[in-house]
Amino acid sequence: MITQLQITHVRNLAQISLTLADCNVFVGRNGSGKTSLLEAVFLLSRGKTFRHHEPKRYISHHQKSCTVWAMTGSDMLAVQKNLDERQLATTVLKLNGQTVTTQSPLTYALPVLPIDPSGMTVLEEGSHARRQMLDWLTFHVKQEFYGEWLAYQRLLKQRNLLLKSPRVRERAGEVRAWDNQLAYHADKLHQCRQAVFERWQVCFDEMMGRLLPHYQGDIYLSYQAGFDDKTGLLSILASRLGSDMELGYTRVGAHRADVMVMLKQSGDGGHIKSQAVDVLSRGEKKLLITALRLSQLQVMCAYQQIQPVVLVDDIDAELDVGAMNVLLGTLLSLPCQLMITSLQDETAEMVAQKLSALHESRTFKKFHVKQGDITPDECST
Ligand SMILES: Nc1ncnc2c1ncn2[C@@H]1O[C@H](COP(=O)(O)OP(=O)(O)O)[C@@H](O)[C@H]1O
Ligand SMILES: [Mg+2]
Repeated sequence: MITQLQITHVRNLAQISLTLADCNVFVGRNGSGKTSLLEAVFLLSRGKTFRHHEPKRYISHHQKSCTVWAMTGSDMLAVQKNLDERQLATTVLKLNGQTVTTQSPLTYALPVLPIDPSGMTVLEEGSHARRQMLDWLTFHVKQEFYGEWLAYQRLLKQRNLLLKSPRVRERAGEVRAWDNQLAYHADKLHQCRQAVFERWQVCFDEMMGRLLPHYQGDIYLSYQAGFDDKTGLLSILASRLGSDMELGYTRVGAHRADVMVMLKQSGDGGHIKSQAVDVLSRGEKKLLITALRLSQLQVMCAYQQIQPVVLVDDIDAELDVGAMNVLLGTLLSLPCQLMITSLQDETAEMVAQKLSALHESRTFKKFHVKQGDITPDECST
């Protein structure tokens, strides 16, 4: 968890330095900088934000760079985004004083999970966003996953390059040379994903019972490996070689894995299956996304060393009282750090009360956010 946090020039946050507690609630008006604060923490962990991907959008106007720095129980992390004259961005990442060249060590050192009830895109945008949900979880709980993923991506890139080459038909043997290794790593990825998926599914079902009981059992998660794992990718690649050469890329494999949220509806003509997102109302989708995120968190927290930072933006604007109680009840019962924002003072009080009712030794802090300035509330600390 984050103990110290410093932010410079992220949106309207010019210079912020905070000491955080286990459970933190940030109260401020619209436009005060609440989402920007959560965005900065997310940026440090993932290298991008959940609003706009382009650094020139989130670096404060008239500034050339922004930084986010944090101290956790065991690590010191920093990200700096710099703009050059052409508004193109470069990134400097540091972990414990050492420059690192990829984001993954920071993601690993600081797991951050946003609970974004209105983030429908994860359900609506297609398989990439859905696969990322499973892969993020697998990355954190299965040590071997990332290495396998890197190896697979490298091989896939090589194979696709060959498939695009003009005289690919004469080079079929070269294409085939990648297949053994590709199939080997695909299988490893599938094993990791499947093991994590099975735990996720159980937690998801239980969470649905609390948030959308009306649909429990009818809404379920469905995982696809991206290839028929019984046949095995090696023989699939061999049999599909002709069509892959025509397409110019590898159509089937672990890179096409997917997790779908399905809805089973019974009618006169038997069962109909569809993607839940195509049927549910907006309010129901918010609860579904909350169930997805909370179940991800439960899976993660089951692994002792992992203490994710959970970001909940505008908690009371997004959810009704019942759902908020389930959300807070679950969050406060898990070993994670909370950063919650709200427009209302009462929300901070409610969280504090819920926490003290649990008689836990977890610390609580309330902050006021005002025009890009964040100050701790004197009474709450
Ligand atoms: N690149 C930027 N530089 C400076 N200010 C920005 C930038 N992008 C957005 N803002 C401003 O930051 C303020 C805070 O936004 P936000 O964090 O979304 O507020 P809140 O979540 O508290 O409603 C807004 O007034 C917005 O206009
Ligand atoms: Mg906001």
